[in-house]
This record gives sequence, C-alpha cells and structure tokens, in this order.
Amino acid sequence: MAASFSFSTSFSMFLVLVGMASAQLSSTYYNSSCPNALSTIKSAVNSAVSKELRMGASLLRLHFHDCFVNGCDGSILLDDTSTFTGEKTANPNNGSVRGFDVIDTIKTQVENICPGIVSCADIVAVAARDSVVALGGPSWTVQLGRRDSTTASLSTANTDIPAPTLNLTGLLSAFSKKGFSAKEMVALSGSHTVGQARCTNFRARIYNETNIDTSYASSLKSNCPSTGSDNNLSPLDTTSPTSFDNAYFKDLVSKKGLLHSDQQLYNGGSTDSQVTTYSTSSSTFLTDFSNAMVKMGNLSPLTGSSGQIRTNCRKTN
Ligand code: HEM
Ligand SMILES: *[C@@H]1O[C@H](CO)[C@@H](O)[C@H](O)[C@H]1NC(C)=O
Ligand SMILES: *[C@@H]1O[C@H](CO)[C@@H](O)[C@H](O)[C@H]1NC(C)=O
Ligand SMILES: *[C@@H]1O[C@H](CO)[C@@H](O)[C@H](O)[C@H]1NC(C)=O
Ligand SMILES: *[C@@H]1O[C@H](CO)[C@@H](O)[C@H](O)[C@H]1NC(C)=O
Repeated sequence: MAASFSFSTSFSMFLVLVGMASAQLSSTYYNSSCPNALSTIKSAVNSAVSKELRMGASLLRLHFHDCFVNGCDGSILLDDTSTFTGEKTANPNNGSVRGFDVIDTIKTQVENICPGIVSCADIVAVAARDSVVALGGPSWTVQLGRRDSTTASLSTANTDIPAPTLNLTGLLSAFSKKGFSAKEMVALSGSHTVGQARCTNFRARIYNETNIDTSYASSLKSNCPSTGSDNNLSPLDTTSPTSFDNAYFKDLVSKKGLLHSDQQLYNGGSTDSQVTTYSTSSSTFLTDFSNAMVKMGNLSPLTGSSGQIRTNCRKTN
C-alpha cells in the first residue's frame, strides 16, 4: 500500500515535470525522434544558398516575419484559399517575402525521414540560422519543439511587422512590444547586412531625404526612377550584400542606410552609440545578434497539445 502510494506520488511528480518540460523549447528536441533533422535542413539550406546567395537573406527574413506575428508558429507559410486569408498578402509580405519553395523542399525531405515529427516553424528557425552561417555569419544553438499554427493573421502582420517608414520612436516601440530592448533592436536590424529591397521601399528616401550621402543617393536613382519600376532591387548593405558582417553599421555611420528606417538608427538619436559600437566591433555585433536571434526564436511558441505538426507547410492538416 505504502509502496504503491509512493509510486503514484512520484509518478504524478514525474508527469508534472514532463508537463513543464513540454511547455518550453529544447535544443535536443529531435535527438531521438529525428536525429538527422538538423543535418538534412543544413544541407538543403547550403544547396539553396549556393544556387542563389540572396536566398540566405530571404530565409532569415522569413523567420522574423513568422515570429513577429503571434509568435514563431509557421503562420506565414499558410497559403490563402477561397475560405482562408493568411499572411502572405499583408503589406510587409506581399510580393516581398521569399523562400517558400525552399521550405517546401526541406519539409518533403524531413517528412521522408521522419513523418509527422518536425514542425514547419522549427524548419524556418533552423533554416534562418543555417542561412546566416552559409553567408559567413555567426552560429547559435536553435531551440526546438515549436508546433505549427492552424491560423494566421493578416491584420497582425500589418500591425506588428515594422514598416520602413517608421521613425526611431516607432521602431523602438515595435520591438518593445515583442520584449526587445533598444540594443537588441539595433542588433537584429544588422540582418540588413544581407539581402535586397525594392525601389518602392526606398524611393522617398533617395529623392527627398537629406540625411543621405549625396553620391550614394544619386547612384541609386538610375535603378529606382521617381515613378515606376517599383520592384527594382538594390542591396540593403551597399558594400557586401552577401556577407553576414558588420558593414551595415559602417554604412549607417556614412549615411548610406538604404531604408528610411535603417538610417533612423544613426540620425542623432539614442541608438547612435550602439551603431558606432557595432561598426567598430564586429565580434560585439555578432555575439549580440546571435543572442537576440535565440530570443526572437522563443517568441510565443506553440508547445504541448496546442497547434499541430503540419504535413504540408502551406496548409493545415
Ligand atoms: C527594424 C525594423 C525593420 C524594418 C522596418 C525592416 C524592413 C525591411 C524592408 C522594407 C525590406 C525590403 C523588402 C522589400 O523591399 O521587398 C527588408 C528586407 C530584409 N529584412 Fe528587414 N526590416 C526590419 C528588421 C529586420 C529584422 C529584425 C530582420 C531579421 C532578423 C530583417 C531581415 C531582413 C532581410 C534579411 C532582408 C532582405 C530579404 C531578401 O533579400 O529577400 N529585417 N526589411
Ligand atoms: C543531441 O544531438 C547532438 C547532435 O548530434 C549532440 O551533440 C548532443 O550531445 C545530443 N544531446 C543529447 C542530450 O542527446
Ligand atoms: C498583392 O500584390 C499583388 C501584385 O502586386 C496585387 O495585385 C494585390 O492587390 C496585392 N494584395 C494586397 C492584399 O495588397
Ligand atoms: C515618429 O512618428 C510618429 C508617428 O508617425 C509621430 O507621431 C512622432 O511625432 C514621430 N516622432 C519623431 C521624434 O519624429
Ligand atoms: C518628395 O516630397 C514631395 C513633397 O512632399 C512629394 O510631393 C513627392 O511625392 C516626394 N517624392 C517621393 C519620391 O517620395
């Protein structure tokens, strides 16, 4: 009797511990259920990035736009249908976010080795890290065990993903809403050391703003006329757009930020000193960036019995 009481008491405590453990992510989540998940994702990312270097930037951004809208839950991957509107046509995403085909390819490969185990949200988180590594940036340990949403929110994508028209106050507030400090906001913005932006997003800056290097502005105008050609691309980091380094911060100090929002980080305000620090210390930037990426990846994950492991990242099961 006493032995059975003690067994059931310990068993209940064990269940409580398991319950607590499942409420948070773990770096070893797939160690026994899908030991080759991480190596499969890494190979696929390396292959996609070697085919097109910009894809590394696109996969990094995909994770950001997933996490800032109700947490890192794969919501951005859901396609619109006749009865469902997802996040893909929200203003910051429409005609702009990329990498869905790469995520599909990875998901197919991972389903082949371990069906129904690895979430789309985790694939996006790991692909973002592997992309940064593939472009020569730092690595970090990705926490795992996110589950996939069964919903998406176009309106939250429109309100919670920061717009390039924001001033420093607006940028600080958009990141503070997700729990990030000013320093973390600046570090995460260093993502713009890779990738491209469309003319429509920097036209007003190169034609109308005064806190921009004059010859830099002139050189951008040839590919971004005052009207039309909205989708023409220019690099966010003018010097090394396919290398994950601290050149973005050097650009800002030289008034060569491409987006209005980029230059806001170095425009006589409270974040100038952090930009200066990152522009002169690559290692400080890379460490702070890695830590902030882990934190971003932990935004409101679905765990336990919430959400699902989608079979196809584009639709709910
Ligand atoms: C600070 C606020 C931010 C604003 C206002 C912003 C805005 C933008 C805009 C407007 C573009 C160009 C999109 C286009 O023209 O199609 C862009 C590109 C990009 N953003 Fe951000 N972003 C911000 C922060 C971030 C963060 C935190 C990350 C990642 C953690 C990120 C990663 C990227 C990357 C990698 C690209 C290039 C994507 C590609 O070439 O496909 N951004 N961002
Ligand atoms: C999980 O797998 C990784 C990579 O194979 C290994 O480095 C780590 O030691 C494993 N951890 C546990 C707790 O099994
Ligand atoms: C998305 O972009 C397409 C192509 O530019 C455009 O036709 C459509 O109206 C946009 N959708 C929304 C919701 O803005
Ligand atoms: C920043 O933008 C907001 C909203 O557009 C505006 O109300 C505020 O005055 C601006 N702040 C500064 C310092 O320009
Ligand atoms: C520049 O500002 C003027 C005056 O506000 C405005 O009429 C014009 O459309 C702006 N140009 C661009 C490219 O944003």
